[in-house]
Amino acid sequence: MEIKIERAKTLKEKPDFNNLGFGKYFTDHMFVMDFSEEKGWHDARIVPFGYIPIHPASTVLHYGTEIFEGMKAYKTADGYQMFRPEENFKRMNDSAERLCLPELDVNETIDALVKLINIDYDWIPDKPGTSLYIRPFMFGNDESLGVHAVHNATFVIILSPVGNYYAEGLAPVKITIEDRDVRAVRGGTGYAKCGGNYAASLRAGKLAAARGFSQVLWLDGVDRKYIEEVGSMNVMFYINGTVVTPKLTGSVLPGITRKSIIQILKDWGYKVEERLLSVDELMSAAEDGSLSEAWGTGTAAVVSPIGRLYYEGKDLTVSNNQIGELTQKLYDELTGIQWGRVPDTRNWCYKVKLK
Ligand code: COI
Repeated sequence: MEIKIERAKTLKEKPDFNNLGFGKYFTDHMFVMDFSEEKGWHDARIVPFGYIPIHPASTVLHYGTEIFEGMKAYKTADGYQMFRPEENFKRMNDSAERLCLPELDVNETIDALVKLINIDYDWIPDKPGTSLYIRPFMFGNDESLGVHAVHNATFVIILSPVGNYYAEGLAPVKITIEDRDVRAVRGGTGYAKCGGNYAASLRAGKLAAARGFSQVLWLDGVDRKYIEEVGSMNVMFYINGTVVTPKLTGSVLPGITRKSIIQILKDWGYKVEERLLSVDELMSAAEDGSLSEAWGTGTAAVVSPIGRLYYEGKDLTVSNNQIGELTQKLYDELTGIQWGRVPDTRNWCYKVKLK
């Protein structure tokens, strides 16, 4: 892929890397390319970070034809490394297939990403717990109001230096289990990483926040009985010495952190069950103490302990509202691999040497 590079004339002042929050600052450049049925992907370019002109009838503004990914780059002594980027772009192609958007060439897209990060390398923060969050996204860009599969699309990658996703940091998050709204149904778009899934989650999230909860835990949309995911993360529960996580039924996002944590747990000899887990089973386990730890997994969330579970009037504490031993061990192992402190025995890191 030939990439045209236009460098920013003035570079922005960097934010305080000790106080980044999540997704608030953006680097100096972004990658953009366009798709049409006649030309395929074309006009690949790295340009100064800025607004994207959109036709008022653009498909994405009316019918939500948008997909995205979330991944991270970590600064190393001689450059940086990314965690399993090919998995993200493969998943993006699965999302594209579901929303009738064009697929990407995984290797070429990683090459384009590397070129972009190399240009904005100084934006990779080096403070503990920070990283450069990578947000690739694609949207349908037909200039017509007809409802049909997309003929024109735009793909963009933006970069944002980040700290913790949750304001709580590594302190346990409070979760309420949603009993009215549903996020996704089987046969729908739950497994795809598309903006619409997140839009559907906002009302419950807003009401939960007003009640003091950080996030909503979704139940399945058919029986409204089985635990699915949190939206910003997949979930895992340590019950009676077994790690139980909702199986991928089609309405749960196939998380790359989820898959990696399952692999680490199995390699360590833990018993892991990917299965249907009913809310009643979960709440009974929380009540009788057989649920010893709960955590979420995600690129943004990393491994986030869950300290409180609320459902239909029952407000239960997990692991004394402290980070559990296994949760901490998983956090240390995963971030150790990602930041290059722990040997990457599974070849998960994509290393870029610049020095
Ligand atoms: C991620 O973990 O990267 C996500 O995409 C979750 C959220 C920030 C939408």
